[in-house]
Amino acid sequence: MRMNNRPSWNWSTIQETLRWRGPFLFFMLGLRELFRPLVYWHVYYIFEIDLTSEPVPEPYENVEIDVRIYAGAGVLERAKAEIISMGQLAPAEVDLRFNRGDKAAIAYAGGEPTGYGWLSFTSGVVELAFGVNWIVGPREAIRYDNFVIPKWRGRRINSCLHSATVACARDHGIVRTFASISMFNRQSMSLEKHYRKTAAMKVTLVHVRGLNWTYRKAVGAPFESRFLKMAQNLDYAARSQS
Ligand SMILES: CC(C)(COP(=O)(O)OP(=O)(O)OC[C@H]1O[C@@H](n2cnc3c(N)ncnc32)[C@H](O)[C@@H]1OP(=O)(O)O)[C@@H](O)C(=O)NCCC(=O)NCCS
Repeated sequence: MRMNNRPSWNWSTIQETLRWRGPFLFFMLGLRELFRPLVYWHVYYIFEIDLTSEPVPEPYENVEIDVRIYAGAGVLERAKAEIISMGQLAPAEVDLRFNRGDKAAIAYAGGEPTGYGWLSFTSGVVELAFGVNWIVGPREAIRYDNFVIPKWRGRRINSCLHSATVACARDHGIVRTFASISMFNRQSMSLEKHYRKTAAMKVTLVHVRGLNWTYRKAVGAPFESRFLKMAQNLDYAARSQS
């Protein structure tokens, strides 16, 4: 499980959201939080990189960054400690991800861990939201859960994590990678805008808590081609991604 099950709306989160996402998205996120006890919704853009026709994207950081990829048993204790120290993931969640074969990219500035990104090759394990999980086909991978610690944000470190995970996928014979970005997450969308990428799919999920019912709609490709409905009795309040 995640340590922070949902964005904690402390003063610095409010300031950051207002400043970098703007008043309209701030209002929409506030509205969504207000309705959380009854209904909650996500709209995701799905981005694809076809490595048979696209190169690994060039990073565009403005600080010196070194990225290391971690996977499997062995050197993981250090990576695990560094990821946990960034405050978003519980040790059990990190173990779960490594044990199922996911790889983590950690970005360092002068030896200090500044953020991470994940890559998964396993179908049915990476959750989009509300118990809806990614389907991963042969020679495909999911890039997910990129995070940069607040004091390092704005230095394009995310582009280094992005490039490193895509390069890692390519080096493992992967031909297509996918990632989701919430339409409310302007900070994450900045990366796709930089590369002038357009979304391959748009997925809307609306969960009505009292009925434990989720409305699902996909545009661009059939929902079932990419996603699988898993858990039933989920606590959606504890599973949101901004
Ligand atoms: C999304 C995230 C990984 C981006 O990492 P980053 O290395 O700061 O990315 P960038 O430096 O390219 O900045 C991206 C955008 O953040 C905003 N930004 C700039 N400086 C910032 C700062 N000091 N603090 C916060 N956001 C800032 C800007 O909107 C910028 O885009 P723009 O310059 O095109 O307007 C990071 O904000 C983060 O960890 N957010 C929380 C977790 C999250 O949302 N993960 C993504 C899940 S899909």
